[in-house]
Amino acid sequence: MKKPSAFSHLHRLGALFLVFIIAFLVIKHLATPPSWNFEAWYRGDSLTESANKPMLHGGNDSCQTCHEDVVKEVKKLKHKTLSCEGCHGPLATHARGDEKIADAKVINQSRWQCLNCHEELISKPQGFPQFTSEVKKHTTIKEGEVCLKCHDAHDPTP
Ligand code: HEC
Ligand code: HEC
Ligand code: HEC
Ligand code: HEC
Repeated sequence: MKKPSAFSHLHRLGALFLVFIIAFLVIKHLATPPSWNFEAWYRGDSLTESANKPMLHGGNDSCQTCHEDVVKEVKKLKHKTLSCEGCHGPLATHARGDEKIADAKVINQSRWQCLNCHEELISKPQGFPQFTSEVKKHTTIKEGEVCLKCHDAHDPTP
């Protein structure tokens, strides 16, 4: 009977595992960014990269310098918690420094601009104003008629 070879099937399997493990470690090493933070598990450089991106949105306070009256007015009304830029687009496309560089639009004047928040859903908190058919005027809306026909976006209370 032939003596089993020293390089038996188990050895071959072991060698294959070793090759896989080494290949894995090499690829892992090559694919890990140099600035990888192993404690918090993120790429260290991404912090400076994100911080260096040009600012797009300024928040509601950024509108105040030039639209003090509008900001003050909206703050007293039901839509006070909304972001101006949610409807008008980012500050960066409209103003730079002390100057207006392009018209601010009302982005998306479809019904969905409002229904995004006001569509009737059973999961919404009780008391949140919804687009219900209990409002008689809502049942007679014609095809294509937008909410802005009856509601003011800044002062939505009918
Ligand atoms: C829910 C959407 C929405 C939000 C939120 C919103 N606006 Fe408006 N805004 C509109 C619409 C609609 C108009 C009317 C545009 C028209 O008549 O064509 C308008 C008009 C304006 C105008 C021009 C007319 C005017 O009243 O002077 C300014 C300026 C303005 N908005 C600033 C703001 C500021 C500042 C905020 C945040 C405090 C804000 N808007 C929040 C939808 C919105
Ligand atoms: C550096 C000044 C400045 C800043 C900051 C500024 N705007 Fe304006 N905006 C203007 C000027 C000037 C006009 C045109 C005259 C007017 O309607 O008062 C204008 C007009 C508008 C209009 C009417 C449409 C148009 O372009 O004429 C809207 C809507 C508007 N701004 C929204 C905003 C929002 C929202 C912000 C904050 C994210 C903002 N603006 C920040 C200067 C500014
Ligand atoms: C980002 C979400 C959001 C969007 C978009 C939005 N709303 Fe509102 N709306 C609110 C919140 C928040 C309130 C205040 C809810 C409260 O008082 O509990 C409100 C209140 C209202 C009310 C009730 C006012 C009252 O006096 O009780 C009406 C009507 C309304 N919105 C209509 C609109 C219309 C029309 C549009 C589109 C131009 C719109 N909303 C867009 C969030 C939104
Ligand atoms: C034909 C005019 C008209 C149109 C168009 C209209 N509404 Fe209204 N809406 C009203 C009136 C009037 C009331 C107030 C009814 C009341 O207080 O009894 C109201 C009330 C509301 C309320 C408050 C409901 C509550 O429970 O307090 C919300 C939210 C609302 N509308 C959202 C919308 C949205 C979103 C659209 C567009 C999809 C829209 N409306 C289109 C006339 C209209």
